[in-house]
Amino acid sequence: MDSTHILNNEIEEQIPVNEPARQEYFMDKCHEIVEEMIIKNGKAPTFHVSTFGCQMNAHDSEKLSGILEKIGYAETEEESDADFVIYNTCTVRENANQKLYGHLGALKKKKESTDGMLIGICGCMMQQPEVVDVIRGKYRFVDIVFGTFNFYKLAELLYKRLSGEESQVIEVLAEPEKNVENLPEKRKYTFKSGVNIMYGCNNFCTYCIVPYVRGRERSRTPEDILSEIKCLADSGVIEIMLLGQNVNSYGVNFLEDSEIINANPDYGFPELLEDVCKIDGIKRVRFMTSHPKDLSDKLIDVIVRNPKIARQIHLPFQSGSTAILKAMNRRYTKEDYLALVDRIRAKLPNVSLTTDIMVGFPGETDEDIQDTIDVVRYAKYDQAFTFIYSIRTGTPAAKMEQLPEDLVNERFNRVLSVVRETCAETSARFEGQTKEVLVESLNDHMDGYVTGRMDNNILVHFPGDESLIGQFVNVHLDEAKGFYYLGTRTEE
Ligand code: 5AD
Ligand code: SF4
Repeated sequence: MDSTHILNNEIEEQIPVNEPARQEYFMDKCHEIVEEMIIKNGKAPTFHVSTFGCQMNAHDSEKLSGILEKIGYAETEEESDADFVIYNTCTVRENANQKLYGHLGALKKKKESTDGMLIGICGCMMQQPEVVDVIRGKYRFVDIVFGTFNFYKLAELLYKRLSGEESQVIEVLAEPEKNVENLPEKRKYTFKSGVNIMYGCNNFCTYCIVPYVRGRERSRTPEDILSEIKCLADSGVIEIMLLGQNVNSYGVNFLEDSEIINANPDYGFPELLEDVCKIDGIKRVRFMTSHPKDLSDKLIDVIVRNPKIARQIHLPFQSGSTAILKAMNRRYTKEDYLALVDRIRAKLPNVSLTTDIMVGFPGETDEDIQDTIDVVRYAKYDQAFTFIYSIRTGTPAAKMEQLPEDLVNERFNRVLSVVRETCAETSARFEGQTKEVLVESLNDHMDGYVTGRMDNNILVHFPGDESLIGQFVNVHLDEAKGFYYLGTRTEE
């Protein structure tokens, strides 16, 4: 490696302290090295980011891709072709951790036979010190490790590795320091985009690792969010997904100089949502996730009067049993939840409700499962993600007495079969209607078909070609197929 790239004191003096200038500096430094690679190899080095977990991670990955492209790397669709592979990890359930170790085993072999290959791992799993210890001990071939609070520093960490300063660069922060704005991002779609409105979570549901790995709740300022969305609209984006672990507490806390400060109580999520709807060019607005304890009537009214807001609310209930909800620290009862469903349906009769359900929380009984099934039947979800409770070290529920696996599996299957039956029935209610659909892609399985999404988030496959991608078109819903439709385009 060329010694001029080594970080010495002389260079250190020129490094900007403030962000994003500091990262721009390191992007330029990495770019110089990548230019040399291009001269040597006759082509740009390639990268692939594999994303696990939620929409937040997917959006973080777009930012990582943006930084790498700015540096001069070229994205490749296949992980197996990449010179730099990054895993953006999830740790919400234990099996995600096991999967990562499996992937790393396979990557090690490839790295041994590929000159100059780099491996990076980041995301929620890296916020767990025991995981980083395992990487440091058993996976020395991993080049770069970073967490959720400093992923914007990819260029800086990569420079340390590329300049040969360190053979394994590990930097994981215990707390967020700042929200860094205005870094490049490479969006997967040209016509729709996720936008973070807040980071972290303060709810501490007793089963959940998220508050530990994503930190305290902190909102971005309305100015930053709205100006980002205006820029997106100017570049042709028509659909926005506002992202946060608990969007309904948007605006309560902000981060300033590493301190969490309280905010203007008169400007919360409903106000932000209305301002987003006012932006010209934005035709559809989605948001996730809503915590049932915080979803206000004010928000429902904002949805009612703004046709741009998708008629879909993701409202995880987790369990239908008031006793289990209490043990989960969800801070609502079965009755509170059902009353909220009623309030929403009274004002938005055609809304699609979607949810997350958990089976197997410590202490859950057959009666508790019956409560969960009651809620599934009552709320009539269009889609429900059903999970088996997974023990997460460090959470309060991990210290509770766990249920036997066989029992949980049997109950999970019982809940799942009701979920499948009711969701198929509910989501079929649009059969025969014509709906506006945003076309997202060519269909993966059927030649001559495209796939689009209705405002209630349900997918529709219908005959069409590439020219439709990114457009709203009217589609007649010919046949409900469980949780998607087959349709035909119409001029109606
Ligand atoms: N085990 C299983 N599922 C979990 N979730 C969160 N934590 C756990 C866990 N420990 C589920 C919840 C949440 C969704 C994103 O993941 O249902 O709503
Ligand atoms: Fe986890 Fe609960 Fe926060 Fe959702 S609201 S991220 S389940 S702690």
